[in-house]
Amino acid sequence: MKVLTERAKPATNPAANAIPETPQAGPALSGRTLTPWLMVVLVVVLFSGGLFGYDQGVISGALHGIKATFSLSSLLVEVVTSWVTLGALLGALAAGELADQIGRKRTVLIAGALFTLGAIVQALTPDTVVLVAGRLIIGAGVGVAAVAAPLYAAELAPTAVRGRFVSAYQLAITMGIFLAYLVDGWLSKSDSWRIMLGAAAVPGLLLFAVALVAPESPRWLMTRLRRADAAAELRKVRPGVDIEPRLDAIETALRKEGERASWGEVFAREWRRPLMIGVWLAIFQQITGINAIIYYADQIFASAGFVTQSAQTTVTTWAIGGVNVLATLIAIAFIDNLGRRKLLLTGLIGMGISLVVVGVAFRYIVPQAAGAAAATAAASAGPTSAGIVTLLALVCFIICFAFSMGPVVWTVINEVFPGHIRGRAVAVATAVNWGSAFLVSQSFLSLIGAMGNSLTFWLFALFCGVAWVWIYFRVPETKGQSLEQIQQLWKVAR
Ligand code: BGC
Repeated sequence: MKVLTERAKPATNPAANAIPETPQAGPALSGRTLTPWLMVVLVVVLFSGGLFGYDQGVISGALHGIKATFSLSSLLVEVVTSWVTLGALLGALAAGELADQIGRKRTVLIAGALFTLGAIVQALTPDTVVLVAGRLIIGAGVGVAAVAAPLYAAELAPTAVRGRFVSAYQLAITMGIFLAYLVDGWLSKSDSWRIMLGAAAVPGLLLFAVALVAPESPRWLMTRLRRADAAAELRKVRPGVDIEPRLDAIETALRKEGERASWGEVFAREWRRPLMIGVWLAIFQQITGINAIIYYADQIFASAGFVTQSAQTTVTTWAIGGVNVLATLIAIAFIDNLGRRKLLLTGLIGMGISLVVVGVAFRYIVPQAAGAAAATAAASAGPTSAGIVTLLALVCFIICFAFSMGPVVWTVINEVFPGHIRGRAVAVATAVNWGSAFLVSQSFLSLIGAMGNSLTFWLFALFCGVAWVWIYFRVPETKGQSLEQIQQLWKVAR
C-alpha cells in the first residue's frame, strides 16, 4: 500500500471534487463566523467534554470518603474507580449505532440523560451495589458523549474551523478535569463525596436542555434522505449563505459511498487505512501515559518528594489540571493553521523527552533506598531536587500532550472516516481508546511495582517514539480539507 504522507499527497487534486465551501460560498461564510446556532453547537460540545472530564477526574478526591462510608475492600475500590471506564467502553460502542440510527443530536440527549441519572444515583446510593451501578451509568454517559459530541462538532463546523471545534471538546475535557480537582480540593476536608459525585447532575441537565434545541447534523439528515430538513438546519448554522452547492456535495459523497454500511464494512479492506489510523491514534494517545499521570499525579508527586497531601493536591490541581487547560488553548489557536501532523509530531517529541527526564529524576536523583521509607525520608525534607525536576518535566509533558495527542487525535478520528461508516467507526476507535485507558490505569501501579518508576516512564517514552514513526509514515495531513475531500485520500492511498 502506498504510504501517504504530507509530501506524498495525491497528484490529482482532491479539490476537483471540492465542495465550494470557502470563498465561492459568499462572504458570510468566512469559516470564522460564529453564528448563534453554531454557538449552540459549541455549547453542546463544551458541556459534553466538560462532563467527560469531570466524571473522569472527580473520583480521586471522592474515594477517601466513599471508603470510609462503605468500608470497601481494595477490590471494590478498584471496581468503583474503573467501572466508569468499562461503562464508557460499552457506551461508546452503543453510541456508534445510536448516532447512525437516531441521529447525532438525539444521541447527545441520551448522554445528557445518562450523566444526570448516573450522578443522582451515585449521590443518593444506599450501598456499594447501587454506587457501582451509578458508576456504570455515568460511564455509559461518558462513552456516548465521547462518540457523539466530537462527531456532531466535526459535521456541523465549517471546514476552516473544524479543528478548532473538535479541539474545543478537548478543552472542555481538560476544564472538567481541572474543575473536578478543584471541587475535590474544596470538599476534601468535609469528605462530602456525595456532593462531589452528584454535582454533575446540574451540567448533565443543562446538556440535555441545550441539546433539545440544538440543530441536527445536516449530513446525518441527508443520510436519511431528508434534504429539506438538512437545508433548514444548514440555513440555521450558516445564515445568508447559498447552501445548495454544499448539500449537493454531501449528496454526491453519500451516493458514492452507497448505503449505510454494515458492521462488516467498517472492517472492510477498503476502509482499513482510515480505521487503522483511528484505532492506532486512539491507542497511542493512551499508551504514551497521559492517564497514568492524570489519575496518579498525587502519588507520583508523593514519591518525588512532595510531603503533605495538600502540597500534592495543589501541585496536581495547578501543574497538571491548570496547565492542561491553558496548553489546550494553544492547540485551539494553531490546529487549523499549523495542521494536524506538525502538532502531533512536535508534541510527541516533547512528551518523549519529558518522560525520559522523569525517569532520570527517579533513577538518579530520588534516594535509591527504595520503598516507602525512602519516599518518606525524601519527603520529610520538602520538595527535593527530584521533585522539582519531576514537576517541571510533567508540566512539559502535559503542555506537549495538550497541544498534540489530546485534541488532534480526537480531531483526526472524527474526520478520517467516510460518512456511511463514520458513526460506527468513530465508536470503535473511541471504545479502543477507553479500553487502552483502562489497561494503562489498571496496570500503572503494577508496572511501577514490577519495573520501578524509571523504567515505567521510559516505557511510555519508547511508545512516544513508536507513535512518532508511525504517524510520520501513516497519517496524512487533513487540515483545510472538507470531510468529503478527505475520503478521496484513501482512494489514492489504496
Ligand atoms: C483523553 C483522555 C485524557 C484527557 C486529558 C483526552 O484527550 O482522551 O483520556 O484524560 O485527554 O486531558
